[in-house]
Amino acid sequence: MTDRLPTMSADEWDELNFPRPTEQEFDRVVERAISRRGFLGGALVFGSGAAVMGSAFLKAGPAEARQASRFAFEPIGIQTDGTVHVPPGYSWKVLVRWGDPLFSDAPAFDPALGIPTKGSDRVFGENTDGMEIFNVGGRDILVVNNEYVNFKTNLAHTKDGVAASAEDVLRLQNFQGVTVMEIAEGRGGWKVVIDSPYNRRITNNTPMVLDGPAAGHDLLKTEADPTGTAVLGTSNNCGSGRTPWGTYLTCEENFNGYFGATAGFPDNAVLKAGFKRYGINEKGVGYNYHPFDARYDVSKNPNEPHRHGYVVEIDPSRPDSKPVKHTALGRFKHENAAYALTPAGNVVVYMGDDERGEFVYRWVSRDVYVPGGDTSTLLSEGQLSVAKFNDDQTGEWVALTPAATGMTAAEIAIFTRMAGSKVGATTMDRPEWIAVNPRAFEVYCCLTNNSRRGTKADNGKLRTNEGGDPMALNGPNPREANNYGQIVRWRPLNDDHGAAKFGWDLFVMAGNPAVHTSGPNAGSPNINAGNLFNSPDSMQIDTAGVVWIQTDGEDNNKGDYAGMGNNQMLAGDPVTGEIRRFLTGPFGSEVTGLTWSSDRRTMFVGIQHPDAPFPDGPNSLPRSSIIAIKREDNALVG
Ligand code: FEO
Ligand code: CA
Ligand code: CA
Repeated sequence: MTDRLPTMSADEWDELNFPRPTEQEFDRVVERAISRRGFLGGALVFGSGAAVMGSAFLKAGPAEARQASRFAFEPIGIQTDGTVHVPPGYSWKVLVRWGDPLFSDAPAFDPALGIPTKGSDRVFGENTDGMEIFNVGGRDILVVNNEYVNFKTNLAHTKDGVAASAEDVLRLQNFQGVTVMEIAEGRGGWKVVIDSPYNRRITNNTPMVLDGPAAGHDLLKTEADPTGTAVLGTSNNCGSGRTPWGTYLTCEENFNGYFGATAGFPDNAVLKAGFKRYGINEKGVGYNYHPFDARYDVSKNPNEPHRHGYVVEIDPSRPDSKPVKHTALGRFKHENAAYALTPAGNVVVYMGDDERGEFVYRWVSRDVYVPGGDTSTLLSEGQLSVAKFNDDQTGEWVALTPAATGMTAAEIAIFTRMAGSKVGATTMDRPEWIAVNPRAFEVYCCLTNNSRRGTKADNGKLRTNEGGDPMALNGPNPREANNYGQIVRWRPLNDDHGAAKFGWDLFVMAGNPAVHTSGPNAGSPNINAGNLFNSPDSMQIDTAGVVWIQTDGEDNNKGDYAGMGNNQMLAGDPVTGEIRRFLTGPFGSEVTGLTWSSDRRTMFVGIQHPDAPFPDGPNSLPRSSIIAIKREDNALVG
């Protein structure tokens, strides 16, 4: 493990420690697939779903269905090379790479050694992920998550990328968090506006505020912060979101990995149960912060992990504003945060917890959003609920209240996963991004994969996430040892995102019909030789209603994954179910993060952790980058 750790992604680390089962119960898988075929086939036209939900289910479709295809591009083939490909008629350029300056006093990037510790918070951070653009006074402000680090690349001066000093740790901390930067389009394309007053780095050490029901609770108090309301830093910023009032939401995902224990865990059952359910272990996963920064040493600061794992709000228009961690939206491995409004104007935020067997959540604000009005309560006063999907394609949001869970409001906010288990939430196949269709009352969620779904441990019991619930097959997660992933879609009852009930179907089950001619691993009928992919992860729906799907999966192009090539971005038609490949990334990379310029003539796509020497060639360290994609005729791209 130690040999491989420095170059591993969080997913790869997880796979190594919890490998896929070697034996699968194929008989049961096939039986399940046959019984499921009805809804998989029907998924594309909402056949049986219409009966479940009535006429509201069909509202989105007919006018748009008359179009032959809503895609303005020709699909491209797979690639296994080290660069980016887009369809004919489109071109791409790099906007920004890890280590590029945000300020004129930033250190220069050394192609062999990267960026030194001094000034490492003056450059674009590592591992670009979720991003959103805000138009502030006519300027395009791009806000981007810098999710985690690549140890060997970022600490190229060390042996195997293991942080060996407080200075190394500080460098890693500075490469992560969030980058806020103004960008502008000139004759040579899009560029970062160096020294813009809006440019800002938010790192693992930036002061921020905790609000909501957990703020001030004993479990959030530390020696450095006896109030339990002030915290340093945001962690593992994965997916993104935005609010209608112009703020950015960054989502703390695998925060557990930063913590370790130099002298064991405290002997406290509540703390230990939390560490187990949230995956905090004594050795950590390789950041090596805890020997050098006591804040990450659970032996010394057992409550610090309770201060991470939240949705954090950032105001890009006020560079001096303190980010706010909203505990009301729950503590888990947040992927992203997708908002909608109820007919009355309440703010709804849909969120997934990216862990095998964890849940999908919904927040509904108590107060309504009024443009220009007070927004201070909208992410702190309201109701968090968790999704229960029934096998008959109905579902409900179960409110996580003290009465339903036997927990206090603060405990629900801190140990949200346990609250979800108490009300019987549906275990999911790693919920990644959720996207709300702006053209229809429907919501999509990528369920990226779950190699342990429906499998048994040595003791014969169904596997679980550590401390979590058994993962039997269920309606939206019908495939045993699910290595390809699927996208579930739900429609709120009566077109009201605040309604307690919804109907659901599967938009797509990824698969490989060339390798598996039948059964669930063949995938749903909208998978074919021309659009093979696995592990849908990031997702956005553009103003035309096109569902853009980005992947973070196995890219060895062999065996079960033959014909899939490098990670990629595809476009899906919500009405016909057609899916086309639009982009392929360099090998070893994950394609993640998508947003558009204010004029919708440029799309920005993130290329994270390439193994290929992208984009500078073989004489440089690989650099996570954001690319700008345009049509050659400068037409709209989303
Ligand atoms: Fe950071 Fe679940 O992706
Ligand atoms: Ca992701
Ligand atoms: Ca992923």
